[in-house]
Amino acid sequence: MALLWDTSLLLRKVKDLRCLTPRRHRVKEKWAATHPKLPPTRLAVHHFDATYSTQLGQLWPSVRLAMLSERKYGALLNNFSHNVALTELKAQGCVDFISEREKDVPSCLEEKSEEPSDVSMKSSDADGEQLSLSPNIKCLVFPRGDVTRFKPARPDKNGLLGYYLMDAASLLPCLALDVQEGHSVLDLCGAPGGKTLALLQTQAIRFLCINDSSVSRTLRLRKVLHSYVPKHFLTNENLRITSFDGTKWGEIESNTFDRVLVDVPCTTDRHSLMEDDNNIFSKNRTGERRRLPQLQLELLLAGIQAACPGGEILYSTCTLSQNQNLSVVEQAIYQAREKDGIHLQVVDLKPLMRMFGNTFHFAPDLHLGEMVIPHLVANFGPIYMCKLKRLT
Ligand SMILES: C[S@@+](CC[C@H](N)C(=O)[O-])C[C@H]1O[C@@H](n2cnc3c(N)ncnc32)[C@H](O)[C@@H]1O
Repeated sequence: MALLWDTSLLLRKVKDLRCLTPRRHRVKEKWAATHPKLPPTRLAVHHFDATYSTQLGQLWPSVRLAMLSERKYGALLNNFSHNVALTELKAQGCVDFISEREKDVPSCLEEKSEEPSDVSMKSSDADGEQLSLSPNIKCLVFPRGDVTRFKPARPDKNGLLGYYLMDAASLLPCLALDVQEGHSVLDLCGAPGGKTLALLQTQAIRFLCINDSSVSRTLRLRKVLHSYVPKHFLTNENLRITSFDGTKWGEIESNTFDRVLVDVPCTTDRHSLMEDDNNIFSKNRTGERRRLPQLQLELLLAGIQAACPGGEILYSTCTLSQNQNLSVVEQAIYQAREKDGIHLQVVDLKPLMRMFGNTFHFAPDLHLGEMVIPHLVANFGPIYMCKLKRLT
């Protein structure tokens, strides 16, 4: 009886509260228009389910599961810092996935690499050589299936941090860029600076220009660099930080750089699935999201123009989307030739895939570029990359 009385009292209170809510703000459940909006993360899942189930087929359920689970990081070792990070991380069971890679690669990769490519644009590395990896880029990861988290990096006596945490697969575009002694390098979309930091570790670059059109993100990039790189290195005339619209770079400085990294803005698939804040699937960013492939194409074309003849361009994204990956590269190759008379060769990244087949899962059968796909036991990526060499 007491319970019934309590319930009716409660109902009356709820009704009273409803009276306090202005009529125009009340939600009528049966009218869909007044239903609460889906959060951007849910919209992203729906969108990815629709597109990636077609694109990835049977692989999609496992990739989806990995992307909805905790991602794995790598610790990019900072050679400018005098500390004991390497010893400490090794004592915790980490391995440098670059220098300590196992020489045995999964046999499926070996077999695939023997198959002739079915697309004429795919060609082997210009000199028929394997990529030479800089011995100065070191990145420590916990072994496959080990999801231990890294502790925050500590500063040395000069205030420089010992390592930078990033998706270890994000290092692959930096390795693939294959920076050599004395090169001039343009990082067209550089903020917040993870890949820039990796490129600086090589200590081979003669001149580095880091650009990002966003002023606030360029400030973040400066902060990152100040936490990892000695001041004299940053004030040196061999390093330039700018905030231009990268799509206009070809007009500013063409035929100049030995290497150009074009790490474009994209749907950042993991972020879109996990964070509602600053999510490109928010309703008010629909236009921006739809314009991404065009922006990516313009950035890649500008990067191609900025490279010198013989120079190399690395296009990368952190999305699985074919429209933002292969289609953009295909369009860029076509437009560079038709509009600017620039002929490009696609550089085969299979050697890189073979080197790191034990650390990352790669998408099978991409006809242009390579892609790390997330997997529960090696939860890195997605990272897509394609390397182009300017022939003219
Ligand atoms: C994927 S993020 C780059 C991440 C960076 N490479 C790193 O490793 O830390 C893409 C960047 O492109 C920048 N961006 C967007 N539009 C641009 C444009 N038109 N020109 C240059 N940068 C642009 C964004 O501000 C963003 O920082």
